[in-house]
Amino acid sequence: MKFTHTSSLRGELTVPGDKSISHRSVMFGALADGLTEIHGFLQGADCLSTISCFSKMGISIENQGETVLVHGRGLHGLTAPDSVLDCGNSGTTTRLISGILSAQKFDTTLTGDASIQKRPMKRIIDPLSQMGAKIESVNGNGCAPLHITGSPLHGIHYNSPVASAQVKSSILLAGLYADGETRVTEPYISRDHSERMLSAFGADIHTEGTTAILQPAKQLYGQKIQVPGDISSAAFFIAAGLIVPDSEILIKNVGINPTRDGILRVCKAMNADVELLNVNTASGEPTADLLVRSGKLTGTAIEGAIIPTLIDELPVIAAMACYAEGTTVIRDAAELKVKESNRIAVMVENLTAMGADVTETEDGMIIHGGKPLHGAVIDSKKDHRIAMTFAVAALGASGETEILDADCVNISYPGFYGDLERLCK
Ligand code: S3P
Repeated sequence: MKFTHTSSLRGELTVPGDKSISHRSVMFGALADGLTEIHGFLQGADCLSTISCFSKMGISIENQGETVLVHGRGLHGLTAPDSVLDCGNSGTTTRLISGILSAQKFDTTLTGDASIQKRPMKRIIDPLSQMGAKIESVNGNGCAPLHITGSPLHGIHYNSPVASAQVKSSILLAGLYADGETRVTEPYISRDHSERMLSAFGADIHTEGTTAILQPAKQLYGQKIQVPGDISSAAFFIAAGLIVPDSEILIKNVGINPTRDGILRVCKAMNADVELLNVNTASGEPTADLLVRSGKLTGTAIEGAIIPTLIDELPVIAAMACYAEGTTVIRDAAELKVKESNRIAVMVENLTAMGADVTETEDGMIIHGGKPLHGAVIDSKKDHRIAMTFAVAALGASGETEILDADCVNISYPGFYGDLERLCK
């Protein structure tokens, strides 16, 4: 797919529902008693993988598009699937479902695509095994396929070496079935949707600093959920609106949970003009409309506690930094290497191909902004966020940019290219 320079971006849009919340709505709804009604569900391939896995375990799920109805069967209502569970490209599905499967009265095997089969699962196998789970990496490499033998579990206090909501949530979901309290402490707080949502579903859960504390559950109760727009999808339009001169975009109903809003804080540090309007709350999650106006950007340092709050936005933030005056340093972001692709290497390679001055480091990158970018052939490595990042980077570059495997955006944002084109004037 090919992209060229645009003179401005103008208009309004609503981005699709939050991916993390959409996954959790289906999972928690499946384990609850009664109906869970999800509005604004993300119809991306990752979330459809979650629906497919729970359908295979006997949960009736009516996918009506914008609305999804999950007929929960309670904490002990899942049934053994008659084949391998396919998690597709989705790390969230694989890791969270593993916590649930560890406690069932049946065995399962789960797998996913080529990317999933390379992503580290030892980070969940270790803590879940400490709880009593029996999980085997079928190829002995610490990755999927995983064979899980359902077992009785006990509560642990896990000190996670990484700030990862997937690790935290996997342990908490196993903890619902444990014989005592489960605690997960993270080096920095990662996204807290599981904590907020499990509480709404009736679980006894609270947080103390960077520790989530959960009691075993007797019952969860079906909920009505309004999924806010995904800030990780909005990020591409924030960046596009800031990069392309003479732009003004209103992005409506975006989730601005403080464990996800790092990009807004980085925008402020870069002197970007992003205004929050209509600040509100939906299903326990803060939301706002974001008014983005282009202007001069300046480089900044991005490191430490802010990293987990913008981990998925770092590729597009790196592209923004190329259009800023001065230097941007990204540190403490080694987690980028174990996403859908090695996002440090892939960003540096592709930004360099477009003429940017960027250097790869152990745990991030250094970008000297202000060098004009030119079109290039971009290998997305079938990573949705890389493809969307370069579609945006191309809008401010001279010449033509071709993105390979551009259709991978279907993982998290099926209508992305149409929405972007509509705003280009
Ligand atoms: C997610 C957590 C993050 C994020 C991913 C979604 C989640 O991963 O990158 O896109 O829904 O819990 P990690 O927990 O591995 O950092």
